Amino acid sequence: MEWWRTAVIYQIYPRSFADSDGDGIGDLPGITARLPHLADLGVDALWLSPFYRSPMVDGGYDVADYRDVDPVFGTLADFDSLVAAAHGLGLRVLVDIVPNHTSSAHPWFLAGLRDRYVFAAGRGSLPPNDWRSLFGGPAWTQMPDGSWYLHLFDPAQPDLNWDNPDVRAEFSDILRFWLDRGVDGFRIDVAHGLIKPDFSEVSVFDQDGVHEIYRGWRRILDSYPGQRMAVAEIFDTQPRRVARYVAADELHQAFNFDFLDAPWEPGPLRRIIDDSLSAAAEVGAPPTWVLSNHDRRRPVTRFGDGAPGLRRARAAALLMLGLPGSAYVYQGEELGLPEVLDLPDEARADPQWVRSAGAEPGRDGCRVPLPWEGEAPPFGFGPRDRSWLPMPPDWAARTVAAQRADPGSMLNLYRAALRLRRPAATLTWRPAPEGVLCFSTGAYLVATNFGDSAFALPREPVLASSPVGAGLPPDTTVWMEPD
Ligand code: GLC
Repeated sequence: MEWWRTAVIYQIYPRSFADSDGDGIGDLPGITARLPHLADLGVDALWLSPFYRSPMVDGGYDVADYRDVDPVFGTLADFDSLVAAAHGLGLRVLVDIVPNHTSSAHPWFLAGLRDRYVFAAGRGSLPPNDWRSLFGGPAWTQMPDGSWYLHLFDPAQPDLNWDNPDVRAEFSDILRFWLDRGVDGFRIDVAHGLIKPDFSEVSVFDQDGVHEIYRGWRRILDSYPGQRMAVAEIFDTQPRRVARYVAADELHQAFNFDFLDAPWEPGPLRRIIDDSLSAAAEVGAPPTWVLSNHDRRRPVTRFGDGAPGLRRARAAALLMLGLPGSAYVYQGEELGLPEVLDLPDEARADPQWVRSAGAEPGRDGCRVPLPWEGEAPPFGFGPRDRSWLPMPPDWAARTVAAQRADPGSMLNLYRAALRLRRPAATLTWRPAPEGVLCFSTGAYLVATNFGDSAFALPREPVLASSPVGAGLPPDTTVWMEPD
């Protein structure tokens, strides 16, 4: 079976993973040095958020050179060492590809190659239409000559024109550049955005023309040995529309944002699990599951502040890792890090925060650097006393080193789950009391209690997200041997 059908893939946000040179910003040599953590955790692969040359207006999702490493993160030689070290530890490597837009500092935009971007005439003094940027404000910015260019994100991220064959040829070449360097695949940023509809349309995303692009990319991936794959970021789209991107001749996986967005309630979760399984099965793709990423509020905080949030995040982790298919884990999720809600305004860097003039808190709270060891910030993140976002002093108890020594820690729960996890292909719901979800995958019998009181268990669990006494306590998931 192809490795990605059951893989657990760990997302690294390079800025915040580990800093090797003491500038307070994570980098590629820092990642390489900490790879043993990932091997010990037991994941199958890692996905690196962008590390390319960039003005860093959007944390590197504004790429100025798709074939080079930004000096703040290291060099191409550092990248090659990282891939070699990861492969040596049995870890596959995915890189992030950002095809919807470039940076406004990309040579094409600087050279005024307008036919490679989406330029249009305005309506008098108004922009060409009413499309809004996902970061707030109009999706159009006017050039000194009066024409407008489209940016679904920041004005520093002009959208590319995928009707132009030069754009298509360039990205085929970029894919080959990284495949030749040995990457195992790609995470495709805003995969449903590339083709724009007629300007009279209200809905911008998920245009049919995008599928032809991914059929071409699939042919490139298939022309390389060793099961190279791609996972698509497609948000705000129905599961059956998402499934079209993972048809047999297109991409391999798509993120399951319905699962990430689900409330901590059995009804909606069961419906989302069923819809995800059937949509994936119809096209023969593996279902995928995700609880967090660099854009979303961390689960420990989302599920309820303080102790209840952590307890539910633990239960959610075992529920997710008990499902058939593939799962994504975002750095720090395995440490149960909370969202940092009280970052000082002057430290915040997210364009969402900047462009909304502070009305939106933005995504910096889930991007705070990882605490590795020690008693005080920056907790081993780097060799010097600095980190690009401040780290909460009370993270001493959440460092990797502290959690490794604590058998009841979130880290040891993830380690145990990844060690005990067995691939499963199917899911059968079992009768369960109100407020409990119970399913068998053939690999395990999994039960989660969302209710307020404990329920008797048919047998001793193999793994439990919280201590189990006479029965299955509230906000707890257990794995039991199947019958
Ligand atoms: C994706 C990324 C997000 C970025 C945006 C624009 O949604 O995950 O971080 O801001 O695309 O590239």
